[in-house]
Amino acid sequence: MTDLPHQRPRRLRSSETMRGMVRETHLNPSDLIYPFFLVNGKDVAEPVDSLPGVSRFSVDRVVQEAGSVQALGIPAVLLFGIPDYKDARGTPASDSEEAVQRAAAAIKDRYPDLLVITDLCLCEYTDHGHCGIVKDGKILNDDTLDLLAEVALSHARAGADIIAPSDMMDGRVAAIRSALDHENFTDTAIMSYAVKYASAFYGPFRDAAGSAPQFGCRRSYQMDPANVREAQREALLDIGEAADMVMVKPALSYLDVTRAVREAVNVPVATYNVSGEYAMVKAAAAKGWIDERRVVLEQLLSMKRAGADMIITYHAKDAVAWLNQG
Ligand code: PBG
Repeated sequence: MTDLPHQRPRRLRSSETMRGMVRETHLNPSDLIYPFFLVNGKDVAEPVDSLPGVSRFSVDRVVQEAGSVQALGIPAVLLFGIPDYKDARGTPASDSEEAVQRAAAAIKDRYPDLLVITDLCLCEYTDHGHCGIVKDGKILNDDTLDLLAEVALSHARAGADIIAPSDMMDGRVAAIRSALDHENFTDTAIMSYAVKYASAFYGPFRDAAGSAPQFGCRRSYQMDPANVREAQREALLDIGEAADMVMVKPALSYLDVTRAVREAVNVPVATYNVSGEYAMVKAAAAKGWIDERRVVLEQLLSMKRAGADMIITYHAKDAVAWLNQG
């Protein structure tokens, strides 16, 4: 008789109760952040073609939507604005009458416990679609910082709890922190898109937000997908400038980066499950080629396992509904 294996990992997989007891990673509604695209106007809910299930909302409608997000136990929403006009300096980005500022105020008024995170970037607001001031075809770093600080202040005045700069200019966290502190917004937190790659996975977002660059690309400011040591450097630099949390973006092709950043820092780490990642799952599910529920929950769990504390995802509401079904 041959020796039977003594080591049997399968013993711990023998029942759902056993698997549940030894499970290493858990996905909870409190891990998730739900993004919203905002437009001006009233009673607008305009579906985005390339993001099935996602719409652009006017402020009145987003307040109702925020209520359903909170009811699901999702702690935070992330706001993006699509303005009626654009110019070279992204002027509408700091306009207190624009959708993001009005929505932040309206959501905090109605649902004070729901955290409002505002995406801070110029690309939705500039006519050239870049995330900074442009001169002679170059994206100027230092001239952009004052503008970003200005926009951050407008978000803080509207009541945003957390400001999330996604522009990838150097030194912007320090610039924003100084501006906020100077106006006594010492409790407004910063979640920095510290590690943001120049990724093809943002395609559907740029459709939704009308923010594609009109010339060139973002590779002179967003990171090279080949680099991971640089991700640790970016995260540490932003924390040095007083970022309260850092983000890795996109999520799925960068799970190793999330792990590397998690090990390098001692602040909460978020990851952004971006539009292209969402659109691929939705398209395959619509074809009947994958089981959407199982694929999404597996992907979100893998982001947690890689070390993310928080996940920004267009799947958030569906994921909570699925988690609640058990
Ligand atoms: C703005 C910004 C982008 C995303 C979030 N903030 C687009 C970009 O950098 O081109 C992408 C989000 C997504 O794809 O879901 N700079």
